[in-house]
Amino acid sequence: MSFWAGYPEVQHELERVQHLIDQETAGPGGLISRALSDLTRRDAKFLRPGFVVLAGRIGNGGVPLGEGAIERAAAIEMLHMASLIHDDIVDGARTRRGGDSLHITLGSKRAVLAGDYLFARSFALFAKSSGQEGLRLLTPSVARLVSSVIDESSGLDESPASGLPGGSLRFNLSPRRYLHRIVGKTAVLFALSFHAGALEADTPSKDLIEPLRRVGYNLGVGFQIIDDLLDIAGDPRKTGKPRGTDLRAGVVTLPLILAMQKDSGKILPKLADQARHARWRRTRVHALEEVRRLVSRCGAFQETWSVAERYTRRAEREILRLPPGADRDTLQEATTRLLRRSA
Ligand code: FPP
Ligand code: MG
Repeated sequence: MSFWAGYPEVQHELERVQHLIDQETAGPGGLISRALSDLTRRDAKFLRPGFVVLAGRIGNGGVPLGEGAIERAAAIEMLHMASLIHDDIVDGARTRRGGDSLHITLGSKRAVLAGDYLFARSFALFAKSSGQEGLRLLTPSVARLVSSVIDESSGLDESPASGLPGGSLRFNLSPRRYLHRIVGKTAVLFALSFHAGALEADTPSKDLIEPLRRVGYNLGVGFQIIDDLLDIAGDPRKTGKPRGTDLRAGVVTLPLILAMQKDSGKILPKLADQARHARWRRTRVHALEEVRRLVSRCGAFQETWSVAERYTRRAEREILRLPPGADRDTLQEATTRLLRRSA
């Protein structure tokens, strides 16, 4: 929650959210509850619940939020946690938020079930706070999220013709399809968070819903592009995740797509396959470092960052259409910090 340090009104509401998540994650008991509680406490940014809170406060003139908004914020964070637990299994990622991923501490079977539990409780909380209307919002967003991850998993050519046991990377992904994917994977849930805040009972005008959703959408696209950039170029001590997880999982992201377009010698596919399949760890690490250097040298990192910046600027312009006040300023600052983040 340290992302919101310096914003006591937001933090105060997020402590209510954390308290509710603690109650919910206590459900299964034993090892699973302990692992879930540990995961929420590892420097989670609490971005999505923060957006629910800010959207609710912007629509409500800054008065403390009702229980419904807190429940929706907790539900969205729990859904996000469930998706990360499953994502780390799908990606084979061993660390999350600077500690062991849940499938490492609990084993895959219990980690899948812990994710399922959070997923189910998240739906129950959302339904409790917003009934049919809430579920009509939530269910298509979740379906879109999962479809995008399914699409992402098709990034590998696993046919025997690829000649590689774990499949060869499909580099011919268009930037348009990449964007479609990250909208589903991230922006849809960001937009939902803003919408969930705008559902706050006293929100004076439903006219704020669409502008708030647009803030979430653009912010989400910018956020995921930076996330994908950090996966290759970030410092693992800051991100809390090892470098190159996407590549190893067969996920082709914007820095690689842009670098491929410039890679006339076609060195990148070979290096990428080495980074994924070389027999020795040292060779894999070395190949990954070569991929990073190549992407950097051809300007693809800078270009990727510029695309993220473009979406962030769109979010900033949308924010300026919202009612002015301290909460709008907080949102504006958060938006800028997300673009410049290194974690
Ligand atoms: C992180 O992406 C992953 C997601 C945003 C979504 C993952 C969703 C699933 C695995 C589907 C299951 C969903 C539910 C709701 C149970 P990333 O891998 O790019 O980011 P990372 O670097 O943080 O891992
Ligand atoms: Mg991942």
